[in-house]
Amino acid sequence: MAARIRSAGWYAGTDRNAFIHRAWMRRGLPAHAFDGRPHIAIANTASDLSPCNTHLDEVADHVKRGVWEAGGVPLDLPVISLGETLVRPTAMLWRNLAAMAAEELFRANPIDGVVLLGGCDKTIPALLMAAASVDLPAVVVPGGPMLTGTFQGRPLGCGTDVWRLSEEVRAGTLSEQDFLTSESSMIRSRGHCNTMGTASTMGCVAEALGMTIPGTAGTPAPDSRLLERAHEAGRLAIELVEADRRPSTVLSRGSFLNAIVAVAAIGGSTNAVVHLLAIAGRLGIELSLEDFDAVGSRVPLLVDLQPAGKHLMEDLFRAGGLLAVLREVADLLDPEALTVTGRPLVDHLGDARIWDETVIHPRTAPLQGAAGIAVLRGNLAPNGAVIKPSAASPHLLRHRGRAVVFDSIEDYHARIDDPDLDVEADSVLVLRGCGPRGYPGMPEVANVPLPARLLAQGVRDMVRICDGRMSGTAYGTVVLHVAPEAASGGPLGLVETGDLIALDVPARRLDVELSDAELDARRPSAALTGAFAAPARGWERLYVDHVLGAEVGADLDFLVGSSGSAVARDSH
Ligand code: FES
Repeated sequence: MAARIRSAGWYAGTDRNAFIHRAWMRRGLPAHAFDGRPHIAIANTASDLSPCNTHLDEVADHVKRGVWEAGGVPLDLPVISLGETLVRPTAMLWRNLAAMAAEELFRANPIDGVVLLGGCDKTIPALLMAAASVDLPAVVVPGGPMLTGTFQGRPLGCGTDVWRLSEEVRAGTLSEQDFLTSESSMIRSRGHCNTMGTASTMGCVAEALGMTIPGTAGTPAPDSRLLERAHEAGRLAIELVEADRRPSTVLSRGSFLNAIVAVAAIGGSTNAVVHLLAIAGRLGIELSLEDFDAVGSRVPLLVDLQPAGKHLMEDLFRAGGLLAVLREVADLLDPEALTVTGRPLVDHLGDARIWDETVIHPRTAPLQGAAGIAVLRGNLAPNGAVIKPSAASPHLLRHRGRAVVFDSIEDYHARIDDPDLDVEADSVLVLRGCGPRGYPGMPEVANVPLPARLLAQGVRDMVRICDGRMSGTAYGTVVLHVAPEAASGGPLGLVETGDLIALDVPARRLDVELSDAELDARRPSAALTGAFAAPARGWERLYVDHVLGAEVGADLDFLVGSSGSAVARDSH
């Protein structure tokens, strides 16, 4: 045990301030709660308005049992929660606010360590960003995916099947009544989306980074083993404090490269790119967009899960879970990258087994030889753009087509089904004004629905290009995170309908067939000067004034880096 733990700075001694700190906490806590034992905050994102996280109160109860058992004091700490499907204009606008608020609460309060309870898309990234900046001992318990729902005898993937079924309605191959009936079948239980969307991806990312007890990620939310792991995490939190094992101890560049390998092998969400860049930025760990391509794109895709494949998270857990996947690619992992257990991640892979090779393919028979996320550059994306080839149509990975440009998602919805819109199957749909500054918040709109006329003709995919993000549950040949974004002066804002755009994923290129002089002659474009109006006040104002580009994680410029847990001044 450290000679004097952090919370003793509030509670130890006989002076007036120590009296105040203890007295106001003495609502059932005995005197020995303040004898120098660790106080562990349970940063809980449970909220009725974050439906994927509502069960975390029960998870927190089991964390508490573990903390008490190991000799600590557990303390509830409700933090900002973001319900991905509900929050407008996009939960991503609030990720940095949630991270900033959690960071300040961790620092301001008399705690020695923290257990992070997240689930729905932005909640784990925000908590990890906060914990990285404060650098108090921390462990993540991912809330876990929901069980598989079925409709008309077929499994339903949250999100992915919403896109698929709604496209079927627009194409006239599914009745609206059947579509509405499927609504009550989709969310079968507590937990987050059951596809390999952002929530599932970030749970796995937290584990690959080393920030969970290995074997926890992907445990279905209703599975009693999640509560068992929550109990263990409570116990571990005390060990973390005693060993002074902090996020900066656990996380290294190797941890982030391991996470990139994991994201590729599981077919994870492109959203992992912005979140990993932001978390690394908090720790001062060098990580670039190119690392995702250099490390991730040679990793085989082993997991057959929606949206890229067939199965769902419950199947992945049954088939052996993330550790079984990582065991197959163990040679690609950094052998020294640690976990919260104090041992390297690779040390935890020995007992992992694949129990169903239709869900987790062995390395010898991958779904794709090289998956991961491809990073594109060119005169349309000087600072980079990303595409997930495993979710794209192979015949579109090299494509040249005429741009059809939309200045906002509202513009898109207003015109896409206009019978006079000049759009064909080989057109390239360009949607701009959806970056971090432009929207603001970088929403998941890039996977725009196809024109109904083309859907009715049987077209199921087209090249789409956007400075926003795509839901992790979505699929298609969609180029995302184009940087710089249009609202920050990026060339995406200069493209006009009719320009020829060339996408070449194997060559990692994204270009508009215009010379630099032709592009410059279009400045300043209406898209840059007219569509973007800075918000007048509040968080949105702060956000657009300080948000960084997607290519570095879309954090706020003044939140990058670590500020530690020290607070020099008292409140009395
Ligand atoms: Fe919460 Fe998908 S909406 S994880």
